[in-house]
Amino acid sequence: MCGIVGYIGERDGQKLLLNGLKCLEYRGYDSSGMAIYLEKKKAISLRKLSGKVKNLEVLLEKKPLFGSLGIAHTRWATHGPPNQLNAHPHLDCKGEIALVHNGIIENYREIKQMLLKETHTFRSQTDTEVIVHLIEKFYYKDASLEEATRRAAKLLKGSFAIALFSDREPDKLIGARCGSPLIVGLGDKENFLASDVPAILDYTKKVIFLEENELVVLEKERVKITNFEGEIIKREPVNISWTKEEAQKQGFPHFMLKEILEQPQVLEKILEQRIKDSGIFFEELGSSSPVLLSKKLSQIKNIFIVACGTAYHAGLVGKYILESLCRIPVLAEVSSEFRYHSSFLIDKDTLVIAISQSGETADTLASVRQAKMQGAEVISICNVLGSTLTRESDAVIYTHAGPEISVASTKTYTAQLMILYLFALYLAVLKETLSKDRINDYLEMLKQIPPKQRQILSNLKIIREIARKHSHFGSFLYLGRNINYPSALEGALKLKEISYIPAEGYAAGEMKHGPIALIDEYRAVVCIIPESKLYDKMLSNIQEIKSRSGKVIAIASEEDRKIKELVSQVIYIPKIEELFSPLLVALPLQLMAYYIAVKRKCNVDQPRNLAKSVTVE
Ligand code: G6P
Repeated sequence: MCGIVGYIGERDGQKLLLNGLKCLEYRGYDSSGMAIYLEKKKAISLRKLSGKVKNLEVLLEKKPLFGSLGIAHTRWATHGPPNQLNAHPHLDCKGEIALVHNGIIENYREIKQMLLKETHTFRSQTDTEVIVHLIEKFYYKDASLEEATRRAAKLLKGSFAIALFSDREPDKLIGARCGSPLIVGLGDKENFLASDVPAILDYTKKVIFLEENELVVLEKERVKITNFEGEIIKREPVNISWTKEEAQKQGFPHFMLKEILEQPQVLEKILEQRIKDSGIFFEELGSSSPVLLSKKLSQIKNIFIVACGTAYHAGLVGKYILESLCRIPVLAEVSSEFRYHSSFLIDKDTLVIAISQSGETADTLASVRQAKMQGAEVISICNVLGSTLTRESDAVIYTHAGPEISVASTKTYTAQLMILYLFALYLAVLKETLSKDRINDYLEMLKQIPPKQRQILSNLKIIREIARKHSHFGSFLYLGRNINYPSALEGALKLKEISYIPAEGYAAGEMKHGPIALIDEYRAVVCIIPESKLYDKMLSNIQEIKSRSGKVIAIASEEDRKIKELVSQVIYIPKIEELFSPLLVALPLQLMAYYIAVKRKCNVDQPRNLAKSVTVE
């Protein structure tokens, strides 16, 4: 949460930092600000205000900042309301140090009390401001800004990624990380700091990921990384393969629509990478990875899947997939519960699968650490190269879905599902729970998914019309059974995230135990009813809703005549084995949420109060 960009070099700092902030706005967008070192005045100048980065841009047009050393921030408020005073950067008492922060300082009250006694005065209600004052406290006589930052960092409890500079050392930009991501971009006579890669993709693809408790000093032509003890750390940069175009809207009205439409391509890429000559390949789990040898994988007794939000719903689908294909018990749990509750059930025969688009979700990281302490092996399914999760797992399976910018996850959800299907088949081979023929049949079915998804995406009109007709409903219920029960949860989550309409997902079999009391003519009920062994049961649920005047929208398999007779609003998806239907069902659910949000004029890509990457607990 919150976006950080920092720059030291020879370019127009304001333009570059603003550009970076726009790429990071998905991380937080309730206020923003920038501090630049003004060469002429030999001083720091600051612009900040509440609202989106656009507001800052307008302000900077009127009152520009000229300089080539600076930091900028887009905020997702934790301490103090999103107003101008609380926006970052924050300054020390003398206005000699400017600092931006991402994370939460848990002991800020104690530090503030101590500093107040030492005559420091505070302007904001943020936890962040104590950091810059603490650095100021240590920044005297011959202590450098680097040393002062290090001393301050060691006293902070909680999580932080910080970027700062001082007008007393205008040849240096400093960053430090503990629990929140921070990357260093390497350029020619210039260097960059950012909380995420898209912010600097326009300028460089050479990136160093800072590790926990590391501090970096950037100069124009030099980058020095140390730990909090001051010991030098050598680390090679990695080359980022994402293109700038992938991280741009390319003429689409919203990133979300662009990302929904990218799904067939993303899944095709995964299939191409994983299936060769009818074999399934997960090189990252093979003999190259000593901790997760196939032998060991074949012996695991149970699996825990930990994740949050949409990734958790992918994990729930994963439970159905792994249990039915590999005959192994699977528990899928939200990371925020798992980390405090279930880890004691884990031992060395447990495999933990952590799923996360960003690889930075605080609760998922904590769960992984907990699981590892109990002796479990952890495989992560992740989209962001080099993220913290990927570095802390025993093995990583990348989804390679490209940058996902819209806050609501879409393409990374189906990419996570596809990886889970392939991984389950891979495990089924190792555990010999399926015949070779069966596996080949399933692989053929998976290869049919991208063209079938294209078929759905070639007719957006019907989905758009149905969405528009129902956009005024005050609440929605989503029902599904079996492997599409998690699809119902995900459909409801998508709708509430971006349209703010209360929406609930339920297992259709549970309808009689509560939700049926809600049904009347004001309730829209999305029923997921593809061809399946529980088709008739779902049909009975629909009858029950209709007889109570609920407005049913059905997602059914093409050529389903029965449903047409019963329900007037039907979205058809191509026929597919029930096991794989979540990969198709997801698309109309995402599109429905999208079109309803557009109709209600909501901010689709940046819904209120949410952030793409939740790096605080
Ligand atoms: C936030 C995002 C969701 C995402 C969840 C988990 O809530 O808004 O879209 O599903 O975090 O994020 P992760 O990066 O771990 O998949």
